[in-house]
Amino acid sequence: MDIDLTVKTVTKKFQDFTAVDGVSFDIARGHFFSILGPSGCGKTTLLRMIAGFDNPDAGEIEIRGENVLGLPPNKRPVNMVFQHLALFPMMNVAENVAFGLRRRGEKDKSRLSARVSAMLQRVGLQGFETKQIGQLSGGQQQRVAIARSLVLEPAVLLLDEPLGALDLKLREHMKVELKKLQSEVGTTFMYITHDQSEALVMSDYIAVMNRGKFEQIDTPSNLYNRPQTPFVARFVGDNNSWSGTIRERNHDRMTVETDDGHRFRVRKTSSASPGAAVELFLRPEAILIQPDPGLKEINRFSVVVRSILFDGASSRLLVSPLHSSRELIVSLPQNRQFDHIKPADQLEIGWSEAAGITFEQTEPLP
Ligand SMILES: Nc1ncnc2c1ncn2[C@@H]1O[C@H](COP(=O)(O)OP(=O)(O)OP(=O)(O)O)[C@@H](O)[C@H]1O
Ligand SMILES: [Mg+2]
Repeated sequence: MDIDLTVKTVTKKFQDFTAVDGVSFDIARGHFFSILGPSGCGKTTLLRMIAGFDNPDAGEIEIRGENVLGLPPNKRPVNMVFQHLALFPMMNVAENVAFGLRRRGEKDKSRLSARVSAMLQRVGLQGFETKQIGQLSGGQQQRVAIARSLVLEPAVLLLDEPLGALDLKLREHMKVELKKLQSEVGTTFMYITHDQSEALVMSDYIAVMNRGKFEQIDTPSNLYNRPQTPFVARFVGDNNSWSGTIRERNHDRMTVETDDGHRFRVRKTSSASPGAAVELFLRPEAILIQPDPGLKEINRFSVVVRSILFDGASSRLLVSPLHSSRELIVSLPQNRQFDHIKPADQLEIGWSEAAGITFEQTEPLP
């Protein structure tokens, strides 16, 4: 497989603050690769070093096998799409898209307009050539910004939260469009976001970033189903979590006593022994409501329903264990059988011993 971008142990410091800390990854040709992490974790700083706006203090960056460190941005085969699209409001759509080509020295009018029109067609804006930027919707402006970058045929297109300025409905629409566009043109995308739903929908691979470091690089489904760190378990998707202590352990199972007094049986983790502090995570959809009493290997307990969050296709229950104020999220199956549930009801819930994910606690919880 051809590799378009290689980043090796790249570090960037601002005075004594390390914004990017020994990050390494490859992006294969044609992949949609996202970097997902909370505000301030170092995403833009990393992107700016790849684009050439900043230099790393240590590490290597190669694009299609060529070392690009030391090259100015316009000599690197990458282009960047910003959150605030930075379109030229005084130019029409075609002039915006032609801008980079002209700057590269393309003067032939008919060649220019053919390339621009072909690109506009690709992003679904055929016939928009002479429209002014101010006459376009947010989503259309988005596509012009992408067309303006893609027409330069970068090895990698770098996108820094490009949907950030759009309203929710349009973002939902654009993330599907953007993924479609990327698979059609086949250009390698490196996409930055703090929004996990964007990353999960669009990406072939996602790197989850936290405080300058990568916690896990994986497919969306592995990140969701097999998080490798507590941070990933907390950041990707909803999770219920408990702090607890291992009480017993046998060949494949262990018993965890949680801080709020449950004793749960869970799959054994690598090495932890009795007495060790652990953090236990459980997805809302892993919780069964009124599990069949005949089912074995289920952790069961009683809860009171606090509220029902109806959200069309995916309703959720907020429940509290008896005599406890903590709330758990339970995803409510679309099933007539549960129509009768209402706030203040008492229910038994349960979860399969295999569904919990435990991590040894290596540092105190924030
Ligand atoms: N030029 C700079 N000088 C000093 N500190 C900086 C500079 N640029 C970024 N930082 C710091 O580095 C950290 C990472 O910033 P960065 O912009 O990369 O975050 P981000 O992950 O893109 O966040 P957001 O999602 O909010 O855009 C932040 O703490 C920021 O304050
Ligand atoms: Mg940023």
